[in-house]
Amino acid sequence: MYCWRWFRSFLLCGLLPFVGHAMASAAEVDPPSAENPAIQRAMAAVAAAVPQAKADARRPQYHFAPPAQWMNDPNGPIFWNGYYHMFYQHNPYGDRWDHMHWGHARSRDLVRWEHLPIALWPSEEQGENHCFSGSATIAPNGQVMLFYTSIGNRAPEQWAAISKDQELLTWEKHPDNPLLAEIHHGGSKVYEWRDPYVFQHEGTRYMVCGGNLNESKGGQAAVQLYRAENDALTEWTHRGVLFIHPDADVKNIECPNFFPLQNKWVLIVSAHRNPEYFVGIFDPKQAVFTMETRGHVDYGDYYAPNGCFDPRQRHVLWGWVRGFDFAQGWNGCLSLPRVLSLNAAGAVLQQPAPELEALRMRELLKKTLTLTAEPIRLEEARSTQLELVLSLQPQPLHQLGLTFEAGAAGGAFTIGCFDDHLDVAGTAVPLDRTVSAGGLSLRIFCDRSVIEVYVNEGARCVTKVFPQGGGLLVPVLSHQANTGQASVEAWELRSIW
Ligand code: FRU
Repeated sequence: MYCWRWFRSFLLCGLLPFVGHAMASAAEVDPPSAENPAIQRAMAAVAAAVPQAKADARRPQYHFAPPAQWMNDPNGPIFWNGYYHMFYQHNPYGDRWDHMHWGHARSRDLVRWEHLPIALWPSEEQGENHCFSGSATIAPNGQVMLFYTSIGNRAPEQWAAISKDQELLTWEKHPDNPLLAEIHHGGSKVYEWRDPYVFQHEGTRYMVCGGNLNESKGGQAAVQLYRAENDALTEWTHRGVLFIHPDADVKNIECPNFFPLQNKWVLIVSAHRNPEYFVGIFDPKQAVFTMETRGHVDYGDYYAPNGCFDPRQRHVLWGWVRGFDFAQGWNGCLSLPRVLSLNAAGAVLQQPAPELEALRMRELLKKTLTLTAEPIRLEEARSTQLELVLSLQPQPLHQLGLTFEAGAAGGAFTIGCFDDHLDVAGTAVPLDRTVSAGGLSLRIFCDRSVIEVYVNEGARCVTKVFPQGGGLLVPVLSHQANTGQASVEAWELRSIW
């Protein structure tokens, strides 16, 4: 649902007189977002692209996406005043990456979202070209703040914006910006320094940022740690290097997230490949994180995840789903919200938030099948928006294929199950035999051109963009041997808009 009330009042409250004017030229600092012509212009550009975006049959229906145009990373998810707020990297002017603003939406239940006015815009009069990724926090003085990387024709700086109202609809750039600049690192140079993530530990606020060191020697991917020195979160000190990526071929880190989970700490990094997690121990006094276990957050078309704690103390994580075709008036969506936990072996498990069961509109089928060499076509599950839960017995399995025949658009999306891995439309997902010894469970969400697969209760996740998607899907099970049983349950899922 688009919050047209806000959107319309934004357009009416001054778009027309200001379009095309360098309104801020008289002022040193631009006005807060509600009166800001840069935001009004941006929202008008998004509104103009809505009809084209809506008409595209491949556009997901229950994965969050902006009203139209480009999005990438989720930014600053935060629970505030009864709502989950989600911000995201957004280009209001096209369906490719550029002009980074922060889009904004809110949800009471993690399922249905309401679009809100764009929150952050590049302050051109302050030399800012892009508002890059970051995080949100409630400062000890009660102020809701967005931290982000300000990009201009200068070295990156970490800036903040403060909310001017309880609904978080209007934002003002902090008068003390930049809150962190290169000078905070003393003599050492952090390259690609960006993506501040603020967290708290024992009453103290910390921040991590991504980047790399020693660029001249090929680059060393590193996460830097900072500590807040006042309640307004305007004074920060650099505590040191929290983490160096253990793989020498990894040269840079983006969008670090660092948070406690059960009795450990989890560091999530996006290093220009599938995002990874590291689980270990944090010693804030020494500014050291000692990694114990590691794994992949997702093996597919998924990047730059960002999460937050909610009132139930759950850590909820979203990622950017990428790889869509261009020129459709939209590009990019979020993964489903995932609730994180640790298993006894120190692996991160990701489960779709239970709230998503509200998407189930109609049960399409529920049955147990004896698998034979003959393919089994699950005609009843023909749909464009589907949740499919499959339990397969016993292990090992032999090339069980699940084929989605994408109706009109054509093409088949195949999940092959092998002894030690899954092949999800060409992406290999290793299977841990100790985890899957009791069988294999797959929970598969198909949303037109997005397919999200949760393997063995979230021990593995893989999100794939299937550009030929959008037509009806029919699951087809095929098995190479005459053995094995599968229990299958499927629902048609509703649109969230
Ligand atoms: C990750 C990223 C971030 C950066 C943002 C820019 O996808 O490159 O490092 O802040 O996107 O849009």
